[in-house]
Amino acid sequence: MRKKIVAGNWKMNTLPAEGVELAKGVAAGRSEVCSCVNFIVCPPFTHLSQVIETLKGTDIAVGAQDCATEAKGAYTGEVAASMIAALGCEYVILGHSERRQYYGETSETLNKKMAQAYANGLKPIYCVGESLDERKAGKHFDVCKQQIEEVVFNLTEEQFADLVIAYEPVWAIGTGETATAEQAQEIHAYIREVLASKFGAAAAECPILYGGSCKPSNAAEIFAKEDVDGGLIGGAALKAEDFLAIGKGF
Ligand code: PGA
Repeated sequence: MRKKIVAGNWKMNTLPAEGVELAKGVAAGRSEVCSCVNFIVCPPFTHLSQVIETLKGTDIAVGAQDCATEAKGAYTGEVAASMIAALGCEYVILGHSERRQYYGETSETLNKKMAQAYANGLKPIYCVGESLDERKAGKHFDVCKQQIEEVVFNLTEEQFADLVIAYEPVWAIGTGETATAEQAQEIHAYIREVLASKFGAAAAECPILYGGSCKPSNAAEIFAKEDVDGGLIGGAALKAEDFLAIGKGF
């Protein structure tokens, strides 16, 4: 049985006190959702430790939204995986399309970040997905395959066992436009096939999340698909009620 995961990517939203309130709200309503759902929240770096403190004693995990390519040293403004891990974070989002698009992250950068994450015991949530132009040109399968081959294929089997993948079509992120459940299933099944070509039967255990305007009204239909194991949620993760309602989609 693959893990069911609902992860909230808060992006550059919430001040520390607001983040704490949001985390409290999620914790307060958590018991209304099946314990089979694994919730993860990913606040900005500035309030990771406060949110971790707030969620102590709950089963809600915390992740960071990025980590540095290097272990430590003269890299002004960067945050090392070891620092994130020391706070008690369990996960780290890597390769989000906003990082690829606005901050020039490439497979080369991401290989380094993945290595840092694993070296510090963080489980990566590795994002892949095509742009609108790539989808229109029918290149979405190839784009996802390449993003996986160039990074995920460098992992050991042991590392792969701790990986979560998020398929996030760039055209659906923050646009209100969602992939249909069929589109999601089609590409999730393909991604699993690509993973199986390298990791064999272990690919059947890898959670593949859908992300891109996922909300309470569409989560159940998308999550019902065989190869969709949950969601990476942006906008709708900023309201505890909506975030929890998405968890009820299972
Ligand atoms: P969205 O963002 O839910 O606001 O579309 C998803 C994401 O970028 O992870």
